[in-house]
Amino acid sequence: MSEQRMQQQIEAACAHIAQHAESVRHSRYRQRYHFMPQCGWLNDPNGLIYFKGKYHFFYQYNPYSGFWDRMFWGHAVSEDLLHWDYLPVALAPSEEYDDHPKGGCFSGSAIVIGDKLWVMYTGTCNNGNGFEQSQCVAWSEDGVQFHKYEGNPVLTAPEGVRPDCFRDPKVWEHDGLYYMVCGASRDGKAQALVYRSADFLHWEFFNVLAESRGEWGYMWECPDFFPLGDKYVLMFSPMGGGERTSVYLVGDFDYETGKFQWSTSGENDWGFDYYAPQSFLAPDGRRIMVAWANSWDWMPTWKDWGPTYREGWNGFFDLPREVRLLPDNSLQFLPVKELRALRRDPQFKDVLELQPDQEQSVTAGDGVAFELRFTLDLEHTDAEQVELSLRCGEGRRTVCTLDLKHSMMYVDRNNSDGWSRGVSKSPLFVRDKTLLDVHVFSDQSSLEIFTSDYTTNHSLNVFASDAQNGILLCARGGGARLLSLEGYGLERTFC
Ligand code: FRU
Repeated sequence: MSEQRMQQQIEAACAHIAQHAESVRHSRYRQRYHFMPQCGWLNDPNGLIYFKGKYHFFYQYNPYSGFWDRMFWGHAVSEDLLHWDYLPVALAPSEEYDDHPKGGCFSGSAIVIGDKLWVMYTGTCNNGNGFEQSQCVAWSEDGVQFHKYEGNPVLTAPEGVRPDCFRDPKVWEHDGLYYMVCGASRDGKAQALVYRSADFLHWEFFNVLAESRGEWGYMWECPDFFPLGDKYVLMFSPMGGGERTSVYLVGDFDYETGKFQWSTSGENDWGFDYYAPQSFLAPDGRRIMVAWANSWDWMPTWKDWGPTYREGWNGFFDLPREVRLLPDNSLQFLPVKELRALRRDPQFKDVLELQPDQEQSVTAGDGVAFELRFTLDLEHTDAEQVELSLRCGEGRRTVCTLDLKHSMMYVDRNNSDGWSRGVSKSPLFVRDKTLLDVHVFSDQSSLEIFTSDYTTNHSLNVFASDAQNGILLCARGGGARLLSLEGYGLERTFC
């Protein structure tokens, strides 16, 4: 019976998508090579996994409008992380534990057990006790059609944890046991709770993995926990953590006690549009991380979700990034190497000298969907700031300032497009350095700027017109020398 209910919901959603995808496909702000839904609203990446020869991306999805509402799990597969085939919606609200009209099937993760694909997600409901969240499981043999477990929910909020703040399970296996970390809020402080199970269906509380003293907010959304080198990494998106959208802690995990002793912390991205990242393992052992390129209305830097709702869609993912551990236990986030296959029309320049206050134009692809890299030769630069202006034209631009004098980096989108606003800020580690690397990925509606060996990155959405296709460099308060300039157009993978 209830399986039938989910099937009906899925069929209705798929029929709606089939009707609307074509008109959305040609709209102005569609990305060219960033993952996005066919129509409707997308937020968090869910259940990212490599299964039976394909990468599976699931995502928080409302197929019916360009706004968040009652959530489904959208689904697509790829062999190369670049070209995607959409599959039928995987999960739909259908049960009394996941049918909240403003909620539904919330975020979660996937694991392969035997030859089946299992997912764990948060069911949301209101059965008279307010907004309740519980952890639920579903399985699939073919990775396309899912069956919800009859014993759902498998876990409800423990004593003392707010029932409306207990969500986003991330599961993994270690030495024959299953583990799960999820976000929680207790006494106004955020926690990551770890649970353990022998069969994936019966779960017991193991430990508090980490908690906020207030500096990282009152609730952690979408925690992720994974081994990297000889360390463990915990990531989460803090609610109430100021301008931070997504942070990491690096330390050691003890499987005897469930204790996580962390010693390093950092930010996954300093831009406004990088939220709820989830990681997964590629078959070659790389740890890859994907995030939703937007943020929530309760964030201090939030303006809105952008104008694309008018086109019948909203939301895309930031580029998949490979996570690497550095010797000081901080993390590097590199755009995955697969992206190189999209490069077209290469342009190289060994040296480019910037004279003080003279703007210099450079070329990369059509200036809209492109990749640009260069290295700043700090020994031959006496400028106080170097400005990189992107998507310039019609009197508008987005300005990335590398402030060498004050060791800061800014991305200013107050004059980007007549829509966006705000200036993202981060430290820039240039002291005692001779070189500073900069790597930019621009797409129709987004900019991702990687610096400092991919440790300090800013991702921001901009909704600029196609005529805004200029790239300008300028040194302020002195001159600058740039080395190894590379520019490329990037081929479209979505059409
Ligand atoms: C994070 C989040 C999750 C929740 C989902 C709902 O962006 O708020 O905590 O599961 O989105 O769509």
